Amino acid sequence: MLIRRLAAEERLTTSFPLQAYAFEASPPTRDRVEAFHRYLPYNKGNRTLVVEEGGETQATASAVPMRQNLRGAVLPMAGVAGVATHPLARRQGYVRALLRQLLDEMRDSGHPVSALYPFRASFYERFGYVGLPRARTARFSPADLAPLLRIELPGTVRWERIGVGYARYRSFTERCLRERHGFAIFPDFRDVGLRDRDDRWLITATVDGSVLGALTYRIDDHGGELVGDDLLVADPYARALLLQFLARHVDQVERISLQVPADELPELWLTDLAVHVEARVARPSSAAPMARLLSVDALAGLPAGPGRVRMELVGDRWLGGTHLLDGTTGRLELTSGGPAPEVTLTAAGLSALAYGVLDPVEVHIRGLGEVGPEAAAELRRLFPRALPYLFADF
Ligand SMILES: CC(C)(COP(=O)(O)OP(=O)(O)OC[C@H]1O[C@@H](n2cnc3c(N)ncnc32)[C@H](O)[C@@H]1OP(=O)(O)O)[C@@H](O)C(=O)NCCC(=O)NCCS
Repeated sequence: MLIRRLAAEERLTTSFPLQAYAFEASPPTRDRVEAFHRYLPYNKGNRTLVVEEGGETQATASAVPMRQNLRGAVLPMAGVAGVATHPLARRQGYVRALLRQLLDEMRDSGHPVSALYPFRASFYERFGYVGLPRARTARFSPADLAPLLRIELPGTVRWERIGVGYARYRSFTERCLRERHGFAIFPDFRDVGLRDRDDRWLITATVDGSVLGALTYRIDDHGGELVGDDLLVADPYARALLLQFLARHVDQVERISLQVPADELPELWLTDLAVHVEARVARPSSAAPMARLLSVDALAGLPAGPGRVRMELVGDRWLGGTHLLDGTTGRLELTSGGPAPEVTLTAAGLSALAYGVLDPVEVHIRGLGEVGPEAAAELRRLFPRALPYLFADF
């Protein structure tokens, strides 16, 4: 099996057709094939690997060089995407081999964390990934937002096409990256696709001279739905300003839908707001994201409570060895000496703790480690529960 990295233009005849077959309606029209050229710039900085047999491309996988916030630290992240195998070449281990090499290369080029949207979570759990919360969809009628129209709020809302306001939006997502656990954003070469497609409206809320809220959206029809993307807010005034803007669509659309993080509680926004909040996870079309550490170095210096544990990392190609984790200074330190309760963790187990998505006892129950009660108490102090919000969809 030959695995090699593609040069940019090679994608047109190798990875793009496989991905189009895997992820789009097909067979493609001639226009669609010609549109491949337009995608090239948004892929140019990705690492794309292919498996070739007899000169034919059998499978492909890419990594997008992104950045992610892990408990306050912004780290280079490998966003795994575009994983596809030719229908005649499936179930022969091609993707397994590709992923191994892709993650080797991404870790060696300085990416200590990785995330993806799985076709099947159990396949990626064996690669050390653990599930993260899925964004929720909140649906409500603009009529129920009416009370906001009577409130005087500090700050302003700006309304424009994303093609015009893109720089403002990008700089606010950079702020969310610095401030929000789990938040990940694309590199510039990929992110500008949002500006260039220009198929969204953008509203931004400015409070005290700073952009503290943003929402991109489209409207499907008169009397239809205002379809919002992720509601990004760093402040309650900003949220209220954006919802107040949406309230003005009462005579225009029947429904509003917004993507919200798992820790956002729309039922508490207003009295008498009838709202349906849904997280739908289904295979293969509606996946919850997954993430993993590719290097224990990602942990060094993260904020932590006062715990100490000696962990042995097992069953993984990228994370191994025995490490003493010490949080007594308020920051995680990786050392080698001293007594401490012992624990055995898989890569998915450690990733679950680092991202804050599972309690140590749940790690044990899920078979992602051997965690006794004493070690569980220490781990709970080292890795308090946290709700990551990935944001980027790839
Ligand atoms: C999903 C997809 C990428 C898998 O590609 P693949 O090359 O078949 O993947 P692999 O062969 O490495 O592994 C797939 C399964 O085949 C199994 N397998 C691997 N070698 C095998 C063999 N020789 N015989 C039988 N099964 C085998 C693997 O173990 C795995 O199953 P498991 O998780 O139950 O163990 C491919 O089916 C596809 O392109 N689907 C459409 C697009 C898609 O969904 N992409 C993923 C989006 S993230």
